[in-house]
Amino acid sequence: MTLETDFIVIGSGIAGLRAAVEIAQAGARVTVLTKDRTSESNTEYAQGGIAVALSEEDEVALHEEDTLSAGAGLCDERAVRVMVEDGPRYIQELIDWGTQFDREGGRLVFTREAAHSRRRILHAHGDSTGREIVRALIARARAERGIAFVAHAATDSLIASEARCAGVRYLDPLVRAPRELRARAVILASGGAGQVFLHTTNPQVATGDGMAMAYGAGAELADMEFVQFHPTALNIEGAPRFLLSEAMRGEGGVLRNERGKRFMTRYHERAELAPRDIVSRAIVAEMQRTATRTVYLDMTAFDKKYLLQRFPKIYETCLRYGLDLSRDLLPVSPAAHYCMGGVRTDLEGRSTLAGLYAAGEVACTGVHGANRLASNSLLEGLVFGARAGRAAAVDCMSASARDFDNRVAATDSEQQPSGSRYRQGDVALAVRKRVRRLMWERVGILRSREGLERALREFEQIAQAPLARASRNFLTVATLIARAGLWREESRGAHFRMDFPERDDQRWRVHSITRTGANISASEEIDFNAVTSDR
Ligand code: SIN
Repeated sequence: MTLETDFIVIGSGIAGLRAAVEIAQAGARVTVLTKDRTSESNTEYAQGGIAVALSEEDEVALHEEDTLSAGAGLCDERAVRVMVEDGPRYIQELIDWGTQFDREGGRLVFTREAAHSRRRILHAHGDSTGREIVRALIARARAERGIAFVAHAATDSLIASEARCAGVRYLDPLVRAPRELRARAVILASGGAGQVFLHTTNPQVATGDGMAMAYGAGAELADMEFVQFHPTALNIEGAPRFLLSEAMRGEGGVLRNERGKRFMTRYHERAELAPRDIVSRAIVAEMQRTATRTVYLDMTAFDKKYLLQRFPKIYETCLRYGLDLSRDLLPVSPAAHYCMGGVRTDLEGRSTLAGLYAAGEVACTGVHGANRLASNSLLEGLVFGARAGRAAAVDCMSASARDFDNRVAATDSEQQPSGSRYRQGDVALAVRKRVRRLMWERVGILRSREGLERALREFEQIAQAPLARASRNFLTVATLIARAGLWREESRGAHFRMDFPERDDQRWRVHSITRTGANISASEEIDFNAVTSDR
């Protein structure tokens, strides 16, 4: 069955919700499709906060400088400027829409996180920043008559025809039947792909479908090799890798090895507040050196009252595992956390495929370069979500309804979805398990040609099996990350090659660009008007 709307937003995190509000304000109908509950997204789990240059001691130029420095020479400077300059305005708007950031004596409080030169991270309810932002944005979106939400709708492919994206295929949650939803434009805000790794801080929905769907429809992806590993995920056998916010180290928490010794001072002058890639690799090195599988985060210097008020969610979660933040050392190790790469976009969220826009973690605007500065992701989602929504509305509202209807009629596709591809059985589970382990062991924090090639060979074998579309999407994203990791023969930001341990600006200060049916190419800009060359 085919349905129609004006615009489709896939995903209900900060970027998707902000885009939907923008489009609805332009007077159009928007359907927001989400894979799980409307409130389930990576945003929902963001603890630390949202970075913005708003404190009295801070400046937009310093936020810009810190972002560029974390990005290890690969940030798109124009995109960074847009984010840091527009950020304060969009944060004020969030506050006006009811977001309750933490305050003391009526004034906003800012915390510090790694690689920030100033205290500039806003937070809410201590460590539930994402949840508070999503709450306020959903309330704001629900006040718009033009926005409809369809929860539990798993999208699996985009409808593309005549080099244009015209809608999406998804599984109707009510009748468990495949549907086509057509629209003037689709805004992808489906988040990242942490779940393709065995250990991740991401929720189960973060399987990278948006990236795979865009790739399948012919859009370009950029910088897929850059995956950030968060240094401190709770490391308890059999339990999910719950995030222990960087803000804990920002407030003074320290890392200790198995012998109780603080070790980060030996690895970097900023110790626990060194960039994330450095802390993650230092933890791996320390675990190897002491032949253990964990290190510890120590918050015992702080009293219980303070910890309960500053990190209530983390405190409560750790208690469930028998750990009291004020008394116990917390076992931690790194876990996949954030994809810097994704669907290549311009500054307005346009992808290289007409009618397809992307914002948030699924997109690559170039803001994060090779390594994202902590707490910049919510700000990016907010600013570029709004921009993508606005651009989609401006670009596509002008097409007359008649043109639109003709185009829809012309794209009636031969790719009718078959019911069987939605079935998730033992094969799907086995495929995911194998892929996740390979990604962790061969495409993880420390990479090498041998490991990457081995993973790719296995992925090719797995791909021979008749897979459901969702499993194929999962495998596609894993393959794209591994391929780009093999292509980049240097170490930069979050991408570390043991066989090429140095950064090589002369040869590799370029972005990797990939699309269906072509080799990876190099581009100096994320902007797609830039010249690309084969490599
Ligand atoms: C954290 O709280 O450590 C996560 C924040 C982020 O990834 O930006």
